[in-house]
Amino acid sequence: MSKEERNITWQQSSLSRQEREIHNGHRSRTLWFTGLSGAGKSSLAFALEQHLHEQGVRCYVLDGDNVRHGLNRDLGFTAEDRQENLRRIGEVAKLMVDAGLLVLSAFISPHAQDRKMVRDLFEPEDFIEIYVQCSIEECERRDPKGLYKKARSGDIPHFTGISAPYEVPEEPSLIIDTEQLSLHEAVQEIVRYLELTGALQLPLAPTTSHI
Ligand SMILES: Nc1ncnc2c1ncn2[C@@H]1O[C@H](COP(=O)(O)OP(=O)(O)OP(=O)(O)O)[C@@H](O)[C@H]1O
Ligand SMILES: [Mg+2]
Repeated sequence: MSKEERNITWQQSSLSRQEREIHNGHRSRTLWFTGLSGAGKSSLAFALEQHLHEQGVRCYVLDGDNVRHGLNRDLGFTAEDRQENLRRIGEVAKLMVDAGLLVLSAFISPHAQDRKMVRDLFEPEDFIEIYVQCSIEECERRDPKGLYKKARSGDIPHFTGISAPYEVPEEPSLIIDTEQLSLHEAVQEIVRYLELTGALQLPLAPTTSHI
């Protein structure tokens, strides 16, 4: 059904995203961390959040586990549910970008097609895909939540890397190899990228007045 058929009209705020960005002192973006379970997405996203927060950046982590506690508690791990999971997260991240925030999204997001679906919700410069690279052997060795052990014994179906595929990003904005970089080095690398691409700078003053 189209938006017209559903009687849905976009309601326009009198505040622009740019005004919110100026208020915050930086641009808004979505950083999309993708990688195997245990690769370090959450560790990296929360460490980066802490660092950016200390620099006065308004940011927030959308984390796979946390989102499944509430918003997406009705979804499982089949390909369809993973897709719907990411669609909802993508829409939430988009609202948060409109709110002027730097969003750090940490989801395995194993399917290239689903990542593209999310990417397509954003303007190109607003979506930064970060491939958190780590071999399956190392992820399984780390096994921070004991999930690989359970997956190997058949207790978790559709487990990425074991019984479900992970499609490596072909052209991520950034690759962070957590077998090579320490958490601190990885945070520095991402901050450098954000600085280079102007994400941490003030946007230009708005040209339109709402008065
Ligand atoms: N350089 C590194 N960067 C990030 N994590 C690292 C690094 N070296 C070791 N680790 C460890 O790897 C583990 C990564 O676990 P984490 O929960 O962050 O993974 P994840 O990608 O979020 O997994 P999941 O998809 O299951 O949520 C942690 O125990 C962390 O301490
Ligand atoms: Mg995680």
